[in-house]
Amino acid sequence: MLFDLFRKKKKLSPERPVPTHIAIVMDGNGRWAKKRGLPRQAGHKVGAEAFRTIANYAKSIGLKYLTVYAFSTENWKRPEEEVNAIMELLEKYLREAIRDMEKNRVRFCFFGDLSRLSPQLQEEAREAVERSAKYEGVQVNFCLNYGGRAEVVRAAQRFAQACVEGKCKPEELTERMLSDLMYSQNVPDPELVIRPGGELRTSNFLLWQSAYAEYYFTDVLWPEFGPEELEKAIAAYNSRKRRFGGV
Ligand code: FPP
Repeated sequence: MLFDLFRKKKKLSPERPVPTHIAIVMDGNGRWAKKRGLPRQAGHKVGAEAFRTIANYAKSIGLKYLTVYAFSTENWKRPEEEVNAIMELLEKYLREAIRDMEKNRVRFCFFGDLSRLSPQLQEEAREAVERSAKYEGVQVNFCLNYGGRAEVVRAAQRFAQACVEGKCKPEELTERMLSDLMYSQNVPDPELVIRPGGELRTSNFLLWQSAYAEYYFTDVLWPEFGPEELEKAIAAYNSRKRRFGGV
């Protein structure tokens, strides 16, 4: 309802094209907090709320897949206190998501090596996936302990293993087969990758899947990234011509 009012105020037609899959690097939490003299953890807390709003809004506009970079394979290098704070936020979010599942009807999926996460977080992730599998509508993919290169290595290892077992031959490998060995199996590639926070890089995010994605960068920090910013990114995407290597 609130979002309907927002769209009416912004004169956004419900018929405007919305991509099928949007991926987001949720960057800028630390700087947002620093600007306010707060600990970095406070930025992640507001960042988690920003995610909740964007996920609800994405669902309301008919987006099918929303993929977010919640924790990378490199993020373990951060101070223990900060890593713990992010993990606690994720646990809290998932507990609430499981509690409110029937109301929100969002399908959950996780990309990344979850084996390094706490047993509790792994269990919550498993439960969220299992119990939400029946929902149609939006699917949220959380990238957790995720790295694009590690994902490609894992896919290559899985293929090599299948060859060793005599199930296939190296020369039979196709792009489609490799795609099916990624965490994102069955998820169409993102058409739009958004990076708030002012940095102009991909940071090992969805390297394989973003081959033809449009990128949208903005200086807005993630905790301040709301539906209005998402609409700006979608409008920018709609204004571009996608040629996929053609003319
Ligand atoms: C990048 O900002 C953000 C992260 C590494 C963590 C993202 C985590 C959350 C938003 C919280 C948990 C998420 C959910 C969905 C419950 P940064 O810390 O690198 O910011 P900076 O570049 O300003 O330092």
